[in-house]
Amino acid sequence: MSFDVKAIREQFPILVRQVHDKPLVYFDNAASAQKPNVVIETMAEVMRESYANVHRGLHTLANETTQAYESAREAARLLLNAVSTEEIVFTKGGTEAINIVAAGIGATIQPGDEIVLSVMEHHSNIVPWHFLRERKGAVLKWVEVLPDGSLDLRSLEQQLSKKTKLLALTHMSNVLGTVPDVKSAIHMAHAAGADVLLDGCQAVVNVKVDVRALDADYYAFTGHKLYGPTGVGVLYGKRARLDALPPFEGGGEMIETVSRDRITYNSPPHRFEAGTPPIVEAIGLGAAIGWLQSQDRDAIHLHKQALMAQATEALRGITGLTIHGTAKGKGPVLAFSIRGAHPHDIAQILDRHGVAIRAGHHCAQPLMSHLGVSATARASFALYNTAEEIDVFVEALSKAQKMLS
Ligand SMILES: Cc1ncc(COP(=O)(O)O)c(C=O)c1O
Repeated sequence: MSFDVKAIREQFPILVRQVHDKPLVYFDNAASAQKPNVVIETMAEVMRESYANVHRGLHTLANETTQAYESAREAARLLLNAVSTEEIVFTKGGTEAINIVAAGIGATIQPGDEIVLSVMEHHSNIVPWHFLRERKGAVLKWVEVLPDGSLDLRSLEQQLSKKTKLLALTHMSNVLGTVPDVKSAIHMAHAAGADVLLDGCQAVVNVKVDVRALDADYYAFTGHKLYGPTGVGVLYGKRARLDALPPFEGGGEMIETVSRDRITYNSPPHRFEAGTPPIVEAIGLGAAIGWLQSQDRDAIHLHKQALMAQATEALRGITGLTIHGTAKGKGPVLAFSIRGAHPHDIAQILDRHGVAIRAGHHCAQPLMSHLGVSATARASFALYNTAEEIDVFVEALSKAQKMLS
């Protein structure tokens, strides 16, 4: 296998840290991933050597920064296999990307129009649609998940109708790890006459995405889970969709002309990038994407799958432990509950062993109520994690189970 985890780890300076005098085991990657040197250095270099505002300047630094910013857009285009950079909008995160679409299509929503979404969505892909329910009279239709956590395509079929305006669906659940059959889901939604938005915040780092092959109308992702910085994300939209979408925020850059009684808008992507964009962050994201794409992504996938297999097997040996989500082909996310133990207590005990996991509702309350829990613990793995770290995690977890149950 051409994957050298030691060489990868050396590129992430934070991984040498100690926590409570123990080597850091960072298993909170689904919340946010750590950053390689290339991202940290690229961002520092921009600010140190060639920084100015983008698009508006006629001087060297402005031109250099604009070029770097637009190269990052090209990196995102390549990552998603979009047709053109005009389909790539920089946003401040995955959340904003989804809100741009919700606010935009909201302008044409009539009372009774339907938005279809699954019960395993993150709040970022729920709350914007609730806004349309509250403000426009849209109806939310929920697609169920099967006991193993996979998307119930029969439930999807039942929820789609002539009234469906949009299917808003995760490309990978941040709790169950499920990677739904989005290709079939998109096909079904299109057959019903609806557009599809995929929330790719988790998927983009774990799955090779091809928006053209999927025929997705919109695709949203965030930079900080992709080894990039916070404060930046991407909204992909098919050119025709973005052309038809009204602007989100008003300000500089998103206009063509402004007079006392009239405005005309810039074309996409700039129509959706009002004001000074996250310049340094977008360039950092471009570096993260370039770095990830230069790695052997198939080998990374196998590495993460091996970690998942090892962890799943070991967790099954812990008394009273339930894993939430066992769908075939799931991503490297392990949400679990231990009978009698509160997830927050588990996370705190693990922290004393240097192991960082997450506990809570994971911004997925409809899914929590479907699972019949108010919170879970969650370990999630990245390409820099190792088999030895899983051993440390499992040992610490066994101790926590004994202390709490
Ligand atoms: C599936 C999913 N969608 C959306 C988001 C929101 O991303 P951000 O908070 O970066 O906007 C997250 C982040 O946790 C996520 O896991």
